[in-house]
Amino acid sequence: MLFKQQVWLRQKLLVLGSLAVGSLLYLVARVGSLDRLQPICPIEGRFGARGQAEFPLRALQFKRGLLHEFRKGNASKDQVRLHDLVQQLPKAIIIGVRKGGTRALLEMLNLHPAVVKASQEIHFFDNDENYAKGIEWYRKKMPFSYPQQITIEKSPAYFITEEVPERIYKMNSSIKLLIIVREPTTRAISDYTQVLEGKERKNKTYYKFEKLAIDPNTCEVNTKYKAVRTSIYTKHLERWLKYFPIEQFHIVDGDRLITEPLPELQLVEKFLNLPPRISQYNLYFNATRGFYCLRFNIIFNKCLAGSKGRIHPEVDPSVITKLRKFFHPFNQKFYQITGRTLNWP
Ligand code: A3P
Repeated sequence: MLFKQQVWLRQKLLVLGSLAVGSLLYLVARVGSLDRLQPICPIEGRFGARGQAEFPLRALQFKRGLLHEFRKGNASKDQVRLHDLVQQLPKAIIIGVRKGGTRALLEMLNLHPAVVKASQEIHFFDNDENYAKGIEWYRKKMPFSYPQQITIEKSPAYFITEEVPERIYKMNSSIKLLIIVREPTTRAISDYTQVLEGKERKNKTYYKFEKLAIDPNTCEVNTKYKAVRTSIYTKHLERWLKYFPIEQFHIVDGDRLITEPLPELQLVEKFLNLPPRISQYNLYFNATRGFYCLRFNIIFNKCLAGSKGRIHPEVDPSVITKLRKFFHPFNQKFYQITGRTLNWP
């Protein structure tokens, strides 16, 4: 009898203990996510129209959980009206470059309480069929946000598509444009790796990178190969500069975003006139993934999908040297135009 009572008492203590630890963890998580928002201050800068200066960031952070529900499409019309939610056209767009780290940049910026990301690549400006659907179609693709927040979308194909600069200019001539670049040869190999993986998934064979990147007749770099052309950043940027002044662009160093993301993100916060709110707390290195992952609070964190950070195939060193030599003058021009030197080989 006494033994039975002891077992019952022990079980009860165990349940109570678990409850206490659970509550404690929950409290720490809430406090943790609020602490990093101190001091409370209004959103600075030029974004938004009405009354933004009176809206504290902390309130935005509080409402993020709610927004998450709305983003998943669970919001009723009444809820949207009640919380003053809107679908806003982007105030900033990550226009490229493909394989530069566009997804990581978008996800990391989304840690900021004043930023709301469009999760999908919308391909409005580069796809004629989508573009023909009109700007309202585009706006309806945007996530719900508070009027004081800014929406950011990313579609890396924008950077290299002929018609896009003019189309974006027509929507908003003062929009902010983010370009994330990586060392051009590495980016080209990353681009190739993605295509190769797609082919392998369909059980198809594919050429070796060397065969595509080097013209077998001339033994020179094959500028007809898309992965090579995309890495000639200055050529594409020059087209954009016919519509937008260089001050409207910000160059993100994609190689540094991999190894040291915080300073890169802080530069973007500054460019977007946002108060600095992303901190080292939000970014932790995951040794298994080999990349930085995101921490929203002690309970909620996430790494990017496995398709980000693929292992590249080995490439003949002489081909790498040839490509680096080829890109060198274009890189110099890119540094000169953008005012950002990236020390690529
Ligand atoms: P690799 O797969 O070549 O390593 P994009 O999102 O534009 O397609 O870019 C993909 C690249 O983002 C990846 O290229 C990877 O190196 C880079 N990247 C940068 N930060 C990352 C992060 N925190 N997690 C995963 N990948 C990251």
